[in-house]
Amino acid sequence: MTYIRECIVTTADKDGKVHIAPLGIIAEDDGWIIAPFRPSTTLDNLTQIPFAVASYTDDVRIFAGCLTGRKDWPLAPIDGCAVPRLQAALAHSVLQVVRVDDDGVRPRHFCRVVSEASHAPFTGLNRARAAVLELAILVSRLGMLPREKIEMEIEYLAIAIEKTAGPEEQEAWGWLMERVTQHFAGKDANGEDVRAAKS
Ligand SMILES: Cc1cc2nc3c(=O)[nH]c(=O)nc-3n(C[C@H](O)[C@H](O)[C@H](O)COP(=O)(O)O)c2cc1C
Repeated sequence: MTYIRECIVTTADKDGKVHIAPLGIIAEDDGWIIAPFRPSTTLDNLTQIPFAVASYTDDVRIFAGCLTGRKDWPLAPIDGCAVPRLQAALAHSVLQVVRVDDDGVRPRHFCRVVSEASHAPFTGLNRARAAVLELAILVSRLGMLPREKIEMEIEYLAIAIEKTAGPEEQEAWGWLMERVTQHFAGKDANGEDVRAAKS
């Protein structure tokens, strides 16, 4: 059984430009595996600077925002680390890549935990947050999943939104649903017609 922690991973390129992306880090012994699909900025950055910060946050707008072109979330420096964390992290782990299992599709970066810190209390589970996370994963796979499956899952997830969401979860859900609607209308994330762009 694989245990995966969904978090926001920050990386940096050799010029210090920081990138943030939602990723599921995979538990392995006392460390974590980061497995970005090719091509990805996270992968390019890990090749240049073999450090990443996993930020654990309950602000699901950041997951939804990263998938809908809203990547400008406040960051905070970490002493002795070239890569910052999310300001909104309840806690974070600094990860150092110690080995890479190369793969044409999804190279696995085995990381040791260099340091960890907590910043704010965890205030409990919320169904709407979990539903936004699930919709974010669906949105990251829109091109791979059949429309029927996407619609069926959204119908179920929407129940948790209706019953338990606060304003932040509603906003995050709205951003993701806008992307789903664009996808079904044949538009890309910028609202451009995908079919026209291909012809
Ligand atoms: C909760 C969640 C977990 C994800 N986990 C992964 C992952 O493990 N590997 C991956 O390549 N993409 C994953 N994605 C999709 C990436 O966030 C997305 O493709 C992102 O743009 C990565 O590419 P980038 O580094 O170029 O930004 C995940 C998305 C979500 C919402």
